[in-house]
Amino acid sequence: MHFSRGLIASMAVILPTLALPTSSTQSKFQPAADAVPGESSLFVNYAGKKPPIASKWMKAIPATGSGPAGPDDLLFQNLLSAEWIIYSLYQQAVDTFSPSDFTKLGLPNNTYQRIAEIRDNEAGHLRIFQDQISTGSIKPGPCKYDFGLNNSASAFLALQVYIEVSSMAFLTGLSLQAEANISKSALMAIGQVETRHNVWALLDVYNTDPFSGPSDTIYPYANQILDTTNAFIVPGSCPAENPMYPAPRQGLPLINIIGNSTTAQPGSDIKFVFESSDNQPKFENGKDYYAVFYHGLNTVSVSYNPKKNSVKIPKQFDSEVGIIMVSIADEVDAPTEGSVIAGPLIILEQPGMLTLKEPYVY
Ligand SMILES: *[C@@H]1O[C@H](CO)[C@@H](O)[C@H](O)[C@H]1NC(C)=O
Ligand SMILES: *[C@@H]1O[C@H](CO)[C@@H](O)[C@H](O)[C@H]1NC(C)=O
Ligand SMILES: *[C@@H]1O[C@H](CO)[C@@H](O)[C@H](O)[C@H]1NC(C)=O
Ligand SMILES: *[C@@H]1O[C@H](CO)[C@@H](O)[C@H](O)[C@H]1NC(C)=O
Repeated sequence: MHFSRGLIASMAVILPTLALPTSSTQSKFQPAADAVPGESSLFVNYAGKKPPIASKWMKAIPATGSGPAGPDDLLFQNLLSAEWIIYSLYQQAVDTFSPSDFTKLGLPNNTYQRIAEIRDNEAGHLRIFQDQISTGSIKPGPCKYDFGLNNSASAFLALQVYIEVSSMAFLTGLSLQAEANISKSALMAIGQVETRHNVWALLDVYNTDPFSGPSDTIYPYANQILDTTNAFIVPGSCPAENPMYPAPRQGLPLINIIGNSTTAQPGSDIKFVFESSDNQPKFENGKDYYAVFYHGLNTVSVSYNPKKNSVKIPKQFDSEVGIIMVSIADEVDAPTEGSVIAGPLIILEQPGMLTLKEPYVY
């Protein structure tokens, strides 16, 4: 597409008619108990260590109405439980670290401020999802979370990228479950915010290509991605009244790959590890299995022999940007949720898998 100088000039003329913030329209300070996402700077650029939301929102909130559950209540309950994990990761980072923990790593001096802003956005998501659940249903509260970071700022930054791409993928997948049209749009709008968080990290933290090619990756079974985040929940720490997370939950065996044996780029061989000794996939002799790879809008199945346990990442996928997801299924292209028997695993192509350390990054 070509823009003439004249067109650019006329675009510039249009700009002042946009509602740019002025002192009278700028968000006013609202006390945390009443703060509304989209109206309060607490969800935008508040830099304090204290959570930006009032304690009355920081717990499970029982149903108050007797009416029927809203059509998307289950979806938003699952999403709220996931958001507690994401918000808590950032809140722990804001609590634990100081600006110098990041400048010591050679990062820009606004890194801590950006992390606080992302924390604020995630707090806004909590309030948005709480409000999307009807009064006929419980709003799940936070559990205790262990991210295994050992107070390491670089481990936090690696996990941050992983969490953002996970949430981009499960938000895209959740839109397949949404009943109300407005829910679909809300999921898309939130997903775009998570993408901005990821782009910030790729640019300012990892100094790499911020783009992911023409499309981010679609994985059809969002609850399976949500389920993998149960690994961060301290067992038994959730409020007793919380519903199962996610619901429905398959509890599939988690997949990892042996990170030091591969570049994990298209065309390279990978070997899987099923790390939980009490949750191993069950392979039947003589049955066919497939490693089903997802990248962009593409799905590619590769024959998987459990005894050999080595598959090649499809070499037709474009170069090292975005993510590749993989699960193991007993049918080509995993046409149903039930055909998936392990996974999914998210393989980060950026900022480069080998820059990231176990247990999150592969
Ligand atoms: C932060 O970095 C910018 C750009 O390098 C510099 O201009 C600014 O003075 C720094 N601010 C502080 C508070 O160090
Ligand atoms: C945290 O420490 C434990 C125990 O020393 C270690 O196994 C784990 O790999 C560390 N995690 C990170 C992210 O460095
Ligand atoms: C969603 O929008 C489509 C297109 O306007 C409309 O046909 C459909 O009835 C809407 N669905 C709901 C649940 O409102
Ligand atoms: C790769 O990792 C495995 C187990 O994590 C370890 O036994 C092996 O020595 C590592 N190999 C290299 C080349 O680092």
